[in-house]
Amino acid sequence: MDFLKENLLEWSKKVAVEGGRHTLKYYKTSINIEYKSDDSPVTIADKETEALMRKMIMEKFPDHGILGEEHGRVNPESDIQWILDPIDGTLSFIHGVPLYTTLIGILVKGKPEIGIIYAPVLDELCDAAVGMGTRFNDVTCKVGNCENLEKATLLTTDIQDVFTHGFEKPYRKIMDKVRLNRSWGDAYGHMLVATDRADIMFDPVLNIWDAAPLLTIIEEAGGSFTDVKGRATIDGGSGYSCNKQLYPQIQTILKG
Ligand code: IPD
Ligand code: CA
Ligand code: CA
Repeated sequence: MDFLKENLLEWSKKVAVEGGRHTLKYYKTSINIEYKSDDSPVTIADKETEALMRKMIMEKFPDHGILGEEHGRVNPESDIQWILDPIDGTLSFIHGVPLYTTLIGILVKGKPEIGIIYAPVLDELCDAAVGMGTRFNDVTCKVGNCENLEKATLLTTDIQDVFTHGFEKPYRKIMDKVRLNRSWGDAYGHMLVATDRADIMFDPVLNIWDAAPLLTIIEEAGGSFTDVKGRATIDGGSGYSCNKQLYPQIQTILKG
């Protein structure tokens, strides 16, 4: 592996862990909640955490580009782009539920190369780089080997969201087949798939910062991450993770 990628991976883990730990200062405290134009909630914890992460990146790699959910874009012309979501699962965070995470995806010439998910309350870190596998708390991890939907555990974040975005029919079909349905997922749900604790995580709406680490983490763990149309991309606007045996079964249902 080349030296730059190794450096990037190490630094991105530090940025995610330090950023994530900053959120703990506000976790389970009564902080003010604002609502953005799309009606999604945001707090001082989201804003401060992203500012801290950006400072750490700029100190080490001042020429790199950054796109963050809360503070926009710098150096858009750079070949290396950091994509940040300081708190993924703000609704979990503001309800005092420990399943929120800090996300980093790094793109090199537009291609996802590194992915990090850090759950600060649980102190769980998933990191991956193309060609280097996925680790969970520094130990290699793989998706599970569930071979049919009847044995699978299915996750999503909000079933109502799945239904209002036009997936009611296929999602009900999948829900009816699987062994177990669970919710409250966000990126943490994808981490559960990468670490063989769940089999499918489905999200009908994803921005690029929600999905940026997921393709690398899931593919390097031996699974599939695509949008609902079956494209292995982080900017398809939706995404689901599972292993390679379940993937064609879900695609067939989604295609109707
Ligand atoms: C949300 C999560 C969720 C997705 C939403 C996002 P946030 O992120 O990623 O899984 O379905 O569209 O807004 O707002 O908690 O960072
Ligand atoms: Ca998010
Ligand atoms: Ca967020």
